[in-house]
Amino acid sequence: MEVIGASKVFVCDDAFCVLDNGAVAFEGAHICDVGDFATLQKRYGNARFHDDCVLLPALINPHTHIEFSDSCGFVFGSFGAWLSSVFTQRQKPCSKEQMESALASLRKSGVGCVGAISSQGHDLDVLACSNLRVVYFNELIGSSHEGAESAWENFLQRVQTADEYASATFHNALAAHSPYSVVPKLLTRLVCEANKRQCALSVHFLESLEERQWLCEDSGFFKDFYANFNPSNTQSFYRIESFLEHFANTKARLLFVHCTQASESELAHIARLGGSVVSCPRSNRLLGGKMLGFKKTNAILPCLIGTDSLASNNSLNLLEELRTALFCAHAPIVPLSVALVLAATNNAARALGLDCGILQNGKLADMALFHVPQIRHTHQEALTFLLHATYAQSLWVGGKELGGN
Ligand code: BEZ
Ligand code: FE2
Repeated sequence: MEVIGASKVFVCDDAFCVLDNGAVAFEGAHICDVGDFATLQKRYGNARFHDDCVLLPALINPHTHIEFSDSCGFVFGSFGAWLSSVFTQRQKPCSKEQMESALASLRKSGVGCVGAISSQGHDLDVLACSNLRVVYFNELIGSSHEGAESAWENFLQRVQTADEYASATFHNALAAHSPYSVVPKLLTRLVCEANKRQCALSVHFLESLEERQWLCEDSGFFKDFYANFNPSNTQSFYRIESFLEHFANTKARLLFVHCTQASESELAHIARLGGSVVSCPRSNRLLGGKMLGFKKTNAILPCLIGTDSLASNNSLNLLEELRTALFCAHAPIVPLSVALVLAATNNAARALGLDCGILQNGKLADMALFHVPQIRHTHQEALTFLLHATYAQSLWVGGKELGGN
C-alpha cells in the first residue's frame, strides 16, 4: 500500500469536494482509501506528503491525433485553407520522435489518459508503449461510393491489428471522420460495429461554417472541394438531422467533436443520444471557426476539453487548453473553473467509459500531482489550480508512477 498526501486533494466528485491535507492510499492499479493524511498515514504507513501541492485525478485529453505531430506547413485563419494544407501535409508522415515528444508534452501537463484518433495506425506502437491510458479511436474515412469497400477492408484490418494491443490500459474504440467524408453505407456499418463492441465512438461534427453550408445547402467550400477531389459528390451525403439519426439507439458512448456551428436544438439532439461534446478552443480559434460557449453547452450535455493535434494547435498542453477555455468563456469565473476541472477528469472518464477521473475507493489510481504555490491559503482551489499549475510533478496511471517530469 502506498499513501500520497497533498495540501489539497481534489476528489472530483460531482460536488467537487476538496480535502485539506488529504491523501489517497492505493495498491496495485486501484485506490483503496481516500481521506485525511494523518489518519491514512497511521492506518497504512508508507506515506509521502507534498506541501503546497494539489493531488487530483490524472487529466484526460479526449481528442487528439498523435499521427499529426508535425506542426509545420499548416495554414490557419479559415477552415477551407487549413483543410487544403492538410492534404498537402498528408504526403509526409511524422516521425516516431515527433510522436514521442507529443506524448511527453501531454504527460508534462498532467494528462494520464488520451483519446487518440488514428487515421492510419502509424501511432499504434508509440501509444501502446507510452504507459499512458489510451482510448485508441480507429478512424474510418471514405468519401467515395466506389472506394467504400476497400476503405472498409483497410479499416477492419487496422481495427484487428489494434485489437491485439488491447490491455488494462489500452482500450480500443472507433471514429468516423466527419459527415462530409464518410458515405452513409460506411457510417451504418461503423455504428453497427460500435454497437457490437459497446465502445466509444467519436466524430468531428459541425466544426466550420463551410461544413454547415454543405450539410444544409450543398454549397460553398465543399462544393468546389469535391468538384476537384471527387466530382461525383455533387451534394452532401446527409442533412444535419439525418446524420444524427444514424446514431439513434446505439449502445456506444458518443463523442461529437467541435460542434462550434451546432444550434442549441442540435446539441439537445446529441444529448438525447446520450452523447457528449468535445470542444477544442485553440484549434477552433486558429481554423477561423467560432469557439463553443462552454457554459451554455455544458448545461445541455457534458462538454469536455481536448487539444486536437499539433496540426491545428500550438501545443498539446491540456492545462493551456483549459486556461484558454477559462479566459474565453462568458461565465462567472469561480464555478466555471470547477466545471472545467471536472470536464477534464470525471466527466471525460464517464464519456469514455473509464473507471478513473475521480479519487474514490475502488477506482483506478490514475492521479497527477502539481506544485501550486500558496494553494493551501485559498478557498478558490480550482481557479488557483488552473491559473498557476505549470507541470505535473508526478503522474500515476493504474497505480504505476510514470517517470520523466
Ligand atoms: C477523404 O479522405 O475522403 C476526405 C478527407 C477530408 C475531407 C473530405 C474527404
Ligand atoms: Fe480532430
